[in-house]
Amino acid sequence: MKAKIKELLKKRKAIMLAHNYQPPEIQDLADICGDSLELSIKASQTDAEVIVFCGVHFMAETASILSPDKIVLLPRRDAGCPMADMVTAKALKSKLDNLPPMPVVTYVNSPASVKALSTICCTSANALEIVNSLDADELLMVPDRNLARNTAAQTDKKIHAWNGYCPVHDLLTPEAVKKAKELHPDAVFIAHPECRPEVIQLADAALSTSGMIRFAKESKSKAFIIGTEKGMLYPLKQANPGKEFYPASEQMICADMKKISLEDILRSLELMEGQVKVAEEIRLPAMEAVKKMIDLALKKS
Ligand code: 13P
Ligand code: SF4
Repeated sequence: MKAKIKELLKKRKAIMLAHNYQPPEIQDLADICGDSLELSIKASQTDAEVIVFCGVHFMAETASILSPDKIVLLPRRDAGCPMADMVTAKALKSKLDNLPPMPVVTYVNSPASVKALSTICCTSANALEIVNSLDADELLMVPDRNLARNTAAQTDKKIHAWNGYCPVHDLLTPEAVKKAKELHPDAVFIAHPECRPEVIQLADAALSTSGMIRFAKESKSKAFIIGTEKGMLYPLKQANPGKEFYPASEQMICADMKKISLEDILRSLELMEGQVKVAEEIRLPAMEAVKKMIDLALKKS
């Protein structure tokens, strides 16, 4: 199966991108694995003709926004993101009608039609930097209320939060973290910014998924409690063979991130099935918002 996929990737001049939460066998096969920001940048820079996106729908959409001339394949059409579905263009328009004019910072975990109405996008890796880059004291962050509140705690700007959340990260409670800390008293606790503020308060660091890998590599600590989707334990262990990683909760599993199988990838490449394409009238304004974010990230690196 793996050899067949590799052969087809070559034949189709395709690149395979995988998010850090994907199953191990998919991460092992991918050309690159990463967090949302890294994968967006790669999707904007590759010269491949086809992008096979192993992640969820908004990620494939973002790749299509950035690379309209390429074919973007999402091997399972039904791999979505419940948080991204918590905001629609219609609902955002009506919210904006009831607020004074202000910039909209939209998390990439959102539909393309919402990005199209936004000032700029952000990911968990750069939310604070994006907010601070704006020439405004007041703004709206969409759709993750936890990311909005966690960012607001680090800036003087007034942030209005959309009431969306990631069902996987929002279920982690301070009690569960305290229990994990009791079990592993020497471990450092790192959490994803999609967790609730009261969980982030207990964390030694709040980082994107790839930020967690870098942090664990650089840290002198030998043990870590991980406050994010459980799939993250695999790339963390791969990058840090001598260190121990414990999930903050066994229940933090994103079913959507586990939908794609090797069979789905093979079928998608064989039949060119699962194409994701964003209509031009949405793509152009959405690209403005995504590009602004990427330009800022590239300027920094
Ligand atoms: P990052 O990998 O960008 O930290 O995002 C996590 C996530 O929930 C993606 O769906
Ligand atoms: Fe969406 Fe949460 Fe799953 Fe990420 S982990 S894809 S934010 S539901």
